[in-house]
Amino acid sequence: MKKADVVNMILGNKLNNSPGSSVKAFAPTNIALCKYWGKRNQELNLPITGSFSISMGIYGTTLELSMSETEQDLIFYNDQPVDSNTTFHKRLTAFLDLFRQKKQWHFHFKSQANIPIAAGLASSASGFASTVQALNELFQWQLNQKELSILARLGSGSASRSVSPGFLEWYAGTDEDGMDSYTEVFPHPWPEMRIGMMMISTKEKALSSREAMQRTIVTSPLYSSWPKKVDGDLREIKQAIQQKDFNLLGKIAESDAMAMHATMLSAWPPICYSLPETVSFMQKIWDARQQGLSLYFTQDAGPNLKLLFLEKDTAAVQTLFPEIKIVQPFE
Ligand code: PMV
Repeated sequence: MKKADVVNMILGNKLNNSPGSSVKAFAPTNIALCKYWGKRNQELNLPITGSFSISMGIYGTTLELSMSETEQDLIFYNDQPVDSNTTFHKRLTAFLDLFRQKKQWHFHFKSQANIPIAAGLASSASGFASTVQALNELFQWQLNQKELSILARLGSGSASRSVSPGFLEWYAGTDEDGMDSYTEVFPHPWPEMRIGMMMISTKEKALSSREAMQRTIVTSPLYSSWPKKVDGDLREIKQAIQQKDFNLLGKIAESDAMAMHATMLSAWPPICYSLPETVSFMQKIWDARQQGLSLYFTQDAGPNLKLLFLEKDTAAVQTLFPEIKIVQPFE
């Protein structure tokens, strides 16, 4: 099964809809509290396990999309034209090709992200989610959240969790066509939650999460225990949110991230996204916790940490980590 087959299953005749004029869409980026690490289908980005995320409030991608009379797509990222030889350009045009019913259709694509690209802050998630949302508006497809999340997943897995704000669960599903692998909002907002973005490096990562996931599955002796770990974490994190038990949420999120990185460290060649500073900051967080502060972290495929805490501890966290940027996910 190819991506184009899934697009056809979802859009059918709507692929022939005529485009409207310019549209604007915003998608927040998201941070997984229970991670997605490993695909059961690489073409369709179908995951081996479910995952669970929180969106990053006002941080994400705003996209202005219209049709262009030009012979190729005109792509701008943060006001700069994107060179057609870059991976970014190729990946994006390949994605747009899925929805280009007529060969002569080209897009004017103006994307603005207020997050550093490819630094483990999931800029591709909000990028593909905003693309799907803008296309949905431009062609008046009137898709629901489930369908939008399936289409966004074809761009990048974690993008399926960026089609709505709040807590989102992405179901692994078992169907070969992935129609049962979509996201749903977990309807228990927690307005007091805060995320502190600790930027350790904004350099683009050397190893993509796609390659790293595959290497982990094939070579890590620890990978076989990962699905079981995620199953338990998913169950517990939802309980923690429903019971507003922040220490349980923090513990599950931090332990889930550490387990994901442990499977990567045991891959061959080993995969280590942490820098020395990443580990120093982890130790500072553990020390603060020892002193009684309810402070936890999570880490994705990059050296940066995302701190998890509650509004009431903002001043204490800021005193310890003045460099963090604080996000209100439910703003
Ligand atoms: O969707 P991708 O290919 O960018 O992979 C995301 C992988 C992690 O960020 C490490 C985990 C996750 O669930 O977001």
